[in-house]
Amino acid sequence: MQSTDSVDSARQHPAALQSRDARLDPFEWYAEMRSEASVHYDEDRDTWDVFRYEDVDRVLREQETFSADRSGSSGDPSADAESDTAILKTMISTDPPEHERLRGFVNERFQPGALNDYRPRLEELTDELVDDLEDTGQFDFVDEFAIPLPVTVIAELLGIPAERRDQFKEWSNALIARPEDNSEEALQRMKRERGAAQKEMGQYFAKLLKERQAGDGDDLITLAATTDELTTKEKIGFCMILLLAGNITTTNLLTNAIWCFQEQGIVEDVRSGDIDRKQAIEEVLRYRSPIQEIQRVTSEDVTLGETQIEAGEVVNVWVGAANRDPEVFDDPETFRPERTPNQHLAFGKGIHYCLGAPLARLEADIALDRLLTRFDRLDADLSDLQPISSHYGLESLRCQVQ
Ligand code: HEM
Repeated sequence: MQSTDSVDSARQHPAALQSRDARLDPFEWYAEMRSEASVHYDEDRDTWDVFRYEDVDRVLREQETFSADRSGSSGDPSADAESDTAILKTMISTDPPEHERLRGFVNERFQPGALNDYRPRLEELTDELVDDLEDTGQFDFVDEFAIPLPVTVIAELLGIPAERRDQFKEWSNALIARPEDNSEEALQRMKRERGAAQKEMGQYFAKLLKERQAGDGDDLITLAATTDELTTKEKIGFCMILLLAGNITTTNLLTNAIWCFQEQGIVEDVRSGDIDRKQAIEEVLRYRSPIQEIQRVTSEDVTLGETQIEAGEVVNVWVGAANRDPEVFDDPETFRPERTPNQHLAFGKGIHYCLGAPLARLEADIALDRLLTRFDRLDADLSDLQPISSHYGLESLRCQVQ
């Protein structure tokens, strides 16, 4: 079985993706790996990397062989909220039958139908942020729009004050951080910071859950506080995973959308409706997937492609590489906003398929609609882009509007 450190070291960047340029544009490396080493063992990270669509899809669907359970490791960002040793279980890191219980009680609330009731409120929240931008003429799209919007939305759904969003962001960053470099020292520092953030966040939610035990609100914290199906620790884990899973990912979807539209010169076509906004968002998800990689641990010996992998190994599937596999997508290196079908794996596949996918799509749809309706011109400056280090997105994106 892999040790805790192995699962953690799988979070390090592979050698090929250490530089800024490679992290902004990992796609050449993906293409090379897909054709030359599609299932590849990386000694540095003690991890198997998987690149082809067919294999990535299989790993995500076959949950019995490829387990999402990293307990015993600290690879689960929601672990250890209450103490340094207690493990919090969340749906993202559990296998059936527990997974069904942890996800089942909330699943309904995230279905597109249920979310539609929120649409007017989401539009209002989006408009408030756009109003704040209006006077400025020039702003950082990431800091002033793409970060606050998803935090504000999830805070609204959970029923917590959005004013604390800087704190939520700080916690989220610590929990999904990667070590700064591949040294042992950086790994230990990352773990210490993560532990502290987990603890604070756990305490914050434990208090709110207690206060709402007899509540009758329709926010998600009350939903968790009043269910008999989860233990207290599971309820805390639930709140944490909702706050964590949806924020940086949606920030990156919004940012990557503006990045793609500017790069392709299609801002005007999306605004006018000549290019369908919803389809264009799907193509952004494929072309610049906010999450490029997902991890599993083998629970038995398995042959993947032509490669034998033993039980207990960490398998890192490269969704970003699968989403550009020429076996599945015509002309995969070209951004084609009208692409259909578009069976990208940006939200994963199988039982762990993103719970928040309908919400993320709705947020992106409303956000782009509101931005492009409000401003006659929106120009993003694509010079000197800096990649974020945790997922796939940008540190900042300067925009001018009129
Ligand atoms: C563009 C934005 C998003 C992207 C790209 C994204 C991507 C993903 C992916 C790839 C997975 C699968 C992880 C795995 O198989 O291990 C996942 C799971 C999950 N996502 Fe998202 N996500 C996004 C937004 C959201 C939002 C807004 C929420 C909630 C408010 C959310 C909540 C979740 C949860 C709870 C899971 C775990 C589901 C399970 O294990 O059954 N996500 N997401």
